[in-house]
Amino acid sequence: MAAKRVVAVFGATGAQGGSVAAALLANGGYTVRAITRDTTKPAALKLKEAGAEVVCADLDNETNVESALTGADSAFVVTNFWEHFNKDKEIEQGKRIADVTKRLGLKHVVYSGLENVKKLTGGKLEVLHFDGKGEVEEYFRAIGVPMTSVRLPSYFENLLTFFRPTKASDGETYNLAIPMGDMLLDGMSVSDLGPVVVSVLKCPAKYIGKDIGLSTDKLLVAQYADIMSKATGKTIKDAKISLDAYRSLGFPGAQELGNMFEFYQMKPVRNVDLTLELNPKAKKFQEWMQQNKDAYKDL
Ligand SMILES: NC(=O)c1ccc[n+]([C@@H]2O[C@H](COP(=O)([O-])OP(=O)(O)OC[C@H]3O[C@@H](n4cnc5c(N)ncnc54)[C@H](OP(=O)(O)O)[C@@H]3O)[C@@H](O)[C@H]2O)c1
Repeated sequence: MAAKRVVAVFGATGAQGGSVAAALLANGGYTVRAITRDTTKPAALKLKEAGAEVVCADLDNETNVESALTGADSAFVVTNFWEHFNKDKEIEQGKRIADVTKRLGLKHVVYSGLENVKKLTGGKLEVLHFDGKGEVEEYFRAIGVPMTSVRLPSYFENLLTFFRPTKASDGETYNLAIPMGDMLLDGMSVSDLGPVVVSVLKCPAKYIGKDIGLSTDKLLVAQYADIMSKATGKTIKDAKISLDAYRSLGFPGAQELGNMFEFYQMKPVRNVDLTLELNPKAKKFQEWMQQNKDAYKDL
């Protein structure tokens, strides 16, 4: 029997990498090497119990990255801007992984990338957590690593946290404050990423060199609000907040997210048909909302 392909999964204790590790383990055809800085944390122990090799590595340490990738055939790579809010650091981490995958000759890297907005807009708009990933996409390609970029849309899960509706001044209804004007907002559940990545890894010849914009639904903010209202029984409305008002909200990252929504209003490519081809069970928003409505009981 042929040995199973070893797939190294960065961010395996988190949302994206966790979904990828789970899908690879469910497939059964891969040895999953789950990478974390803390092999004793509950998510790492769970991965071990589910059959993953759990290895300790810090993306800031090249020797660590090299030993985590030695012997791997392929890798899923995600870096977390929101841990440090530092574009240069995210670029360093991404380039460090790219260099090591090149040196070790990995056959396929699936990178969680995003557009280089600064470059696309000729410097008019900067979205730091996009621009850094865009530079890393370019770097992977420039040094000749066989790489597919998967560009995620806003996770539906953000509606449980950062974009959770808040009580309106009438004390009864709720506001969904997402500055999209009259434009459609792409979304998907991050839990549906894993099977997408497994499909991509199964067909390297088809997907190496491609940037795949993911989405399972394109909806107006008012449509998100309407689906949330029907599922929760509460009245949730599009707050119709402007980009500038959003940027002025003052929480850490408000400016950055305002800039991101400005870019989303420029309609980056997110392909629903391709996403559903790569993961036919990926949920539309209505289905996700039905499954998650209990999380809004205390709204
Ligand atoms: N939220 C969205 O809608 C959205 C959409 C598109 C793209 N993104 C991008 O997704 C990224 C975050 O991914 P996520 O949602 O999966 O995050 P997450 O759930 O917070 O998980 C972050 C993961 O990164 C790992 N990690 C962070 N720093 C590390 C380091 N120095 N060395 C090794 N591992 C490290 C963590 O591992 P340990 O802590 O176990 O070491 C953890 O597994 C961000 O860069 C964001 O821009 C998000």
